[in-house]
Amino acid sequence: MDNLLDIKKTHTKGRKFGRMSRREHDALRTILPMVKLSTETMMDGTEVFGREAPLYLEIGFGNGGFLLEKAVTTPQHDFIGIEIYVTGISKLLVNLVSTDNPDALAVTNVRVFNKDAMSVLINNIPPGSLDGVYILFPDPWPKKKHKKRRLINPELAVILFSRLKTEGYVVVATDKQDYAEDIERAFISSGFRAVMEGPSEIDKTTYALKASKENRELRAYRFIKGNLSLPE
Ligand SMILES: C[S@@+](CC[C@H](N)C(=O)[O-])C[C@H]1O[C@@H](n2cnc3c(N)ncnc32)[C@H](O)[C@@H]1O
Repeated sequence: MDNLLDIKKTHTKGRKFGRMSRREHDALRTILPMVKLSTETMMDGTEVFGREAPLYLEIGFGNGGFLLEKAVTTPQHDFIGIEIYVTGISKLLVNLVSTDNPDALAVTNVRVFNKDAMSVLINNIPPGSLDGVYILFPDPWPKKKHKKRRLINPELAVILFSRLKTEGYVVVATDKQDYAEDIERAFISSGFRAVMEGPSEIDKTTYALKASKENRELRAYRFIKGNLSLPE
């Protein structure tokens, strides 16, 4: 199974394996090959999904609940997920097949990359190809000495800008106020226009519900790639 999991070759900090059921473990062998995208070549969305459709990306999809919900409720759109946490991937996989026939995909509009997001964005996602990107509750790395591990920084915002179509957007949610401020700065300095995201399906996700229960303010943004070119 090792050759199915690219993550062993990357150096990203964080948890990569956790507790898996037998079914989830088996899914890495049987279902992952059906949905895993190659990190050796630039992706061609039309070829991958066999159609031309709006293309969305979720970075760090965790257990895949949001990605699955999006894919099922908008079957006319295609979705790519990037995740380094193998157990999370396995939990998504078991939901992509029906219990009646675990050998065939029931949800056909989802594919995954199991590699660091920056590497995938640079090497595998073509410029101007994405309609929207979701980054929900990126790891906060709250200690000062760990802040450089945070996923969202100006370099990530610049590469996202180039991978989006004009008027494409990035939705970001966090409950860490200092991270929110850094995120806002990173996207605005990279040419995005920011709007606060109103109530949405994000509010029902695990981390959002936890933040609400623990009285932590949730900040959700939509950063839009306008027609303007990058600032000099
Ligand atoms: C706090 S969890 C949030 C998961 C999910 N978005 C949610 O709201 O439930 C952050 C996720 O980002 C993933 N992650 C962290 N760094 C990453 C990277 N460089 N590339 C891809 N995924 C990453 C982690 O493995 C983890 O699953």
